Amino acid sequence: PVGSSDPPMARPAVKALPPKHLVALAVVAILGLFLVADYLWASSRSAAPSIWPSRLDISTRPTASPPPSEKQTKGNTSTGSMDISATFADLPAPELQWKQMAEAPVPRLDGAAIQIKNLLFVFAGYGTINYVHSHVDIYNFSDNTWGGKFDMPKEMAHSHLGMVTDGRYIYVVTGQYGPQCRGPTARNFVLDTERKEWHDLPPLPVPRYAPATQLWRGRLHVMGGSKEDRHEPGLEHWSLAVKDGKALEQEWRSEIPIPRGGPHRSVTSPSCDICCCSLEMEVVRFLYRLDFLTFHILVSLNSFCAPGNTFSVKVFC
Ligand SMILES: *[C@@H]1O[C@H](CO)[C@@H](O)[C@H](O)[C@H]1NC(C)=O
Ligand SMILES: *[C@@H]1O[C@H](CO)[C@@H](O)[C@H](O)[C@H]1NC(C)=O
Repeated sequence: PVGSSDPPMARPAVKALPPKHLVALAVVAILGLFLVADYLWASSRSAAPSIWPSRLDISTRPTASPPPSEKQTKGNTSTGSMDISATFADLPAPELQWKQMAEAPVPRLDGAAIQIKNLLFVFAGYGTINYVHSHVDIYNFSDNTWGGKFDMPKEMAHSHLGMVTDGRYIYVVTGQYGPQCRGPTARNFVLDTERKEWHDLPPLPVPRYAPATQLWRGRLHVMGGSKEDRHEPGLEHWSLAVKDGKALEQEWRSEIPIPRGGPHRSVTSPSCDICCCSLEMEVVRFLYRLDFLTFHILVSLNSFCAPGNTFSVKVFC
């Protein structure tokens, strides 16, 4: 038999190409290399970070910095961890007066809060990394006191909740169940804030961490968030018909996926026919508009993005 160590037979050389063709080939090869490098650079920038502990160290994470522009590398204009584009750094800001309010009954990380009239409902959250709260505290803006406190359902998530209200009912969607870096739940609940009653909603098809949640045209929309592994951005988008705290359907309907997924997005729904995602910087730098068929990009938020900034955008139409 033929020895396996035999050297492979040399192949006859390919017929030599005329020099004109060689030059054309070289140009194509260089262009190709440039495209691949550009693609790799772009995809390395859009890699989504893990959601924990995004709220703790967002300003120190090196990947959060935009690639240095020519201006930034030449000068020494760094303002700590905030590398704001010079175009926006000197815009005059309104002088906001801060006032200290009554201290909250418990410390919280990654809980959720929503205001209805003069009351602020504050849900769940970490007390420490090993302990999560399972109750709701209420702050009364009229007399600046923490007034009520009541329990959450035992099966409800404790952090990274999706949350929205219609002015009376608060819809609570999925989130992380338990302390540390536990897994998410698909369970959903609704709170009647007048009666302080909880009710079940149909579970999401799969669990999510911190999905963007909004009411729009009689439907509860849930999009994005992180998947069960905590860091993979979800693009899925579901909706459920709801009215006065009740689901009108048994199952969530699949909707058009969002263009860029991930946790900690926010969604606003102005009175006109659009639904806008104003997205936490660093993960997504775009503002999208949803209509019946497609997501449209409205504006690139690139220039406003600086490490440590979390902002929301209102769209008037
Ligand atoms: C930048 O500023 C720091 C602190 O003010 C200083 O130590 C450093 O030498 C400066 N670097 C350049 C290139 O000017
Ligand atoms: C909030 O405070 C106001 C002023 O003291 C009070 O009249 C109202 O009943 C309080 N609301 C609740 C829900 O406790």
